[in-house]
Amino acid sequence: MSRKLYLLTYGCQMNEYDSAKMADVLAKSHGFERTNVAEEADLLLLNTCSVREKAQEKVFSELGRWKDWKSARPGRLIGVGGCVASQEGDAIARRAPIVDIVFGPQTLHRLPELLERAGKAGVPAVDISFPEIEKFDRLPEPRAEGPTAFVSIMEGCSKYCTFCVVPYTRGEEVSRPLDDVLAECARLVEQGVREITLLGQNVNAYRGRMGAHETCDLALLINHLARLDGLARIRFMTSHPVEFTDSLIEAFAEEPKLASYLHLPVQSGSDRILAMMKRGHNRAQYLEKIRRVREARPDLSLSSDFIVGFPSETDADFMATMDLIAEARFDCAFSFIYSPRPGTPAANLRDSVTAQDKHRRLEILQGRIRLLDAEFKEKLVGTTQRVLVERASRKGEGQMTGRTSTNRWVNFDGSDSLIGRFVDVYVAEALSNSLRGRLLTEPAALAA
Ligand code: SAM
Ligand code: F3S
Repeated sequence: MSRKLYLLTYGCQMNEYDSAKMADVLAKSHGFERTNVAEEADLLLLNTCSVREKAQEKVFSELGRWKDWKSARPGRLIGVGGCVASQEGDAIARRAPIVDIVFGPQTLHRLPELLERAGKAGVPAVDISFPEIEKFDRLPEPRAEGPTAFVSIMEGCSKYCTFCVVPYTRGEEVSRPLDDVLAECARLVEQGVREITLLGQNVNAYRGRMGAHETCDLALLINHLARLDGLARIRFMTSHPVEFTDSLIEAFAEEPKLASYLHLPVQSGSDRILAMMKRGHNRAQYLEKIRRVREARPDLSLSSDFIVGFPSETDADFMATMDLIAEARFDCAFSFIYSPRPGTPAANLRDSVTAQDKHRRLEILQGRIRLLDAEFKEKLVGTTQRVLVERASRKGEGQMTGRTSTNRWVNFDGSDSLIGRFVDVYVAEALSNSLRGRLLTEPAALAA
């Protein structure tokens, strides 16, 4: 009987991607099958996130809950991977002795060896090194799970924003060679994938080796990918404003396969705070890039990340962020209260903003984004949108769901046979988290 793996993932899409790869690696090496029932499992893996304190603390409270699970059957193993593992190393196993394996985001491909070592010498197997691109060379063939897929094109981040732990946990930027990325995408397309999201902490810093002496940037990679027959939509995330270059703006103007969605984190609208964060740009430079990309792609959906309550942030700084939101017209955002991360420069600053102010600012900001999202969706009502049908909708029987180019979910009546196909849907209604539509194209007449 095959052994069973129970995998819990916290954090960003990079972690989701890494978790899928962990499952692939262990399926190939030890025949592990993934299960959603913890009681059946022989191996528990926690893929962790340390971007904010809450996420980090969750790991130890979670581990506390697995003591009985582990002692209920001899031989059960627990592994901790991801950014908390990378930061804490074997301190994890000291604080939570039930842990057998500790591995980082760059060593997940070594899980088979770590598993063999685990528990043998009575000490946990730990490997949190950064062996650069080796990880990608040793991963099994990519497996498509539906019509959309993520492809990691680079790892790490070299921007060192003063609040962020990522450069320390995932290491500096390393890009995969162009040919490797194209080969992985081609294999996914052969398996029916129609939309690919290029992933990385900072994808527009992509500089992949191309041939013997040249490098390829993100815009050129998008051009190459767009030539792949069968692939109809390309997305990328996350981007940093400084490297959001002219060539990428051009790609939005000229490459119809590039989706009308851009996630370009700005964090704050105050120049003083942006400088303290060491983001490398000011508000005017950011707005100028937005103006130009909107010119290139007028129907663009624009999304961002914000941090409120950065040390010394005043009401005036916060109002500058709110003004920027109005000017840039973000229709989607992920917003967070600043969380000091050990080892980052900002953690040494006095945290002068009261908890009350932080929560009030977050609420105001999120309320404003909700309104802008509602306005954006309302504008889609009465239009026809091309939707890639991804799966049956949870809204009810006989309903399918998929996303518009602008990354909005649309539910409509249809059958499973539409999965993986692009359809034209008339948008009839905007709801709080999705759109309601009516299928226009007859399945038989569907093209890509
Ligand atoms: N590469 C992205 C960029 O260009 O900004 C950011 C990746 S980071 C893992 C995701 C988001 O988490 C950031 O954009 C930021 O808003 C948030 N974040 C990072 N460190 C944080 C901290 N110490 N406190 C609160 N939020 C934080
Ligand atoms: Fe973090 Fe800034 Fe890089 S937010 S992931 S250091 S761009």
